[in-house]
Amino acid sequence: MDTTYVHGYHGREATRLSDQAQTLVDLLHGDTHYPAGSTVLEAGCGVGAQTETLATRSPGATFASVDVSPASLAEARRRMAGAGVENVEFIQADILALPFAPASFDHVFVCFVLEHLERPAQALGKLRELIRPGGTMTVIEGDHGSAYFHPRSDAAQVAIDCQVQLQRTAGGNALIGRELYPLMVRSGLADVTVSPRPVYVDASRPAMVDGFTRRTFTAMVGGIRSDAVAAGLLEEGRFDEGIRDLHRTTEDDGVFCYTFFKGIGRRAG
Ligand SMILES: C[S@@+](CC[C@H](N)C(=O)[O-])C[C@H]1O[C@@H](n2cnc3c(N)ncnc32)[C@H](O)[C@@H]1O
Repeated sequence: MDTTYVHGYHGREATRLSDQAQTLVDLLHGDTHYPAGSTVLEAGCGVGAQTETLATRSPGATFASVDVSPASLAEARRRMAGAGVENVEFIQADILALPFAPASFDHVFVCFVLEHLERPAQALGKLRELIRPGGTMTVIEGDHGSAYFHPRSDAAQVAIDCQVQLQRTAGGNALIGRELYPLMVRSGLADVTVSPRPVYVDASRPAMVDGFTRRTFTAMVGGIRSDAVAAGLLEEGRFDEGIRDLHRTTEDDGVFCYTFFKGIGRRAG
């Protein structure tokens, strides 16, 4: 495995990823449809939070969804069976050593994975080789530097920075969204376009307040409390103040903003 997965594999993390996926479906996936008969490699599928959306939105396509974690794959299989999704095969493998011949797939899809890899450009290069000439690669990543909110809070900012620091220590990059274009170009993809997907949340959007600000972003930062304290990045009280202030942005006069980045490139013929 290329890196230590900073969010861990607990049930709470699986729930967080599911909440995240539901809330963001239209924003992130509204323009992703794979034609009937096409083959798609989903690299780093986790518990299948994106897989269900992809596979149900493109019912005529066939998906090979790969992850390094057997526990996540088991959960993903359970989940797809429960949802009646039948056009997905789950395979345990490392992105850097995938058991597929070059040009095996029409499309590759990668979401919230590069941020955890020590060598994201190398991973993209390897994934690119698995696409047939003319096929596409879609990559979605966040960027924690894009989080800003009202009321402002130094404590909340410090807690977010702890997440960035821990991810860096684990070999990843929580600020990778801003690098998507150069990374995709460097991996040899052609016609790369990256579109920012801004999330804006205020009290007039209660589903987003709960699904994104509270249960996705704040839950993610809250999840690193013990690691941040153990690493000596800050004291418990200061961290808790930061989490309290992130929750404060979910009140009636609060606002929370974050930007995801979605890149699409093509393997030249
Ligand atoms: C944040 S999760 C994202 C999962 C899913 N794409 C989603 O959006 O819900 C990152 C996933 O990448 C997987 N992963 C990390 N490094 C990997 C590697 N080298 N090969 C395969 N999977 C990897 C982890 O096991 C984890 O399930």
